[in-house]
Amino acid sequence: MKIALGCDHGGLDLKLLVVDFLSKRNVEVVDSGCHSLESVDYPCYAEKVCGLISSGDCERGILICGTGIGMSIAANRYRHIRAALCHESFTARMSREHNNSNVLCLGARVLGTEVALDIVRVWLESEFGDGRHQRRLDMLK
Ligand code: RB5
Repeated sequence: MKIALGCDHGGLDLKLLVVDFLSKRNVEVVDSGCHSLESVDYPCYAEKVCGLISSGDCERGILICGTGIGMSIAANRYRHIRAALCHESFTARMSREHNNSNVLCLGARVLGTEVALDIVRVWLESEFGDGRHQRRLDMLK
């Protein structure tokens, strides 16, 4: 699977840990920035990641900012994106099984490292349930 990653300055440190975590699991990563702690605007990175999913270059994306809120608001403005802001692995799994989330949003200033990486692991391993869930997603179009 190819995953697009994006962050702002508030999410940089956690994003680097996620890149390392995914690379060790042979997940292909496209890192769309940012690449320094200089203050930047999260909508720009949400746009890059959502664009990579829209073009088919990447199957899913992970967006990280201080709280995860800005990234989730920004990502969900794109029609083809179903972004889930998760603080633990149960909602991460449900966001895949019931909502077919294709973007995971994380709040780097909210989560401990181990919890964040557990969320990423569960989100990656969980599959969409289809059936009645697809019918409900179709209603959102
Ligand atoms: C940046 O200071 C912060 O506002 C941003 O990372 C994010 O938390 C916004 O939702």
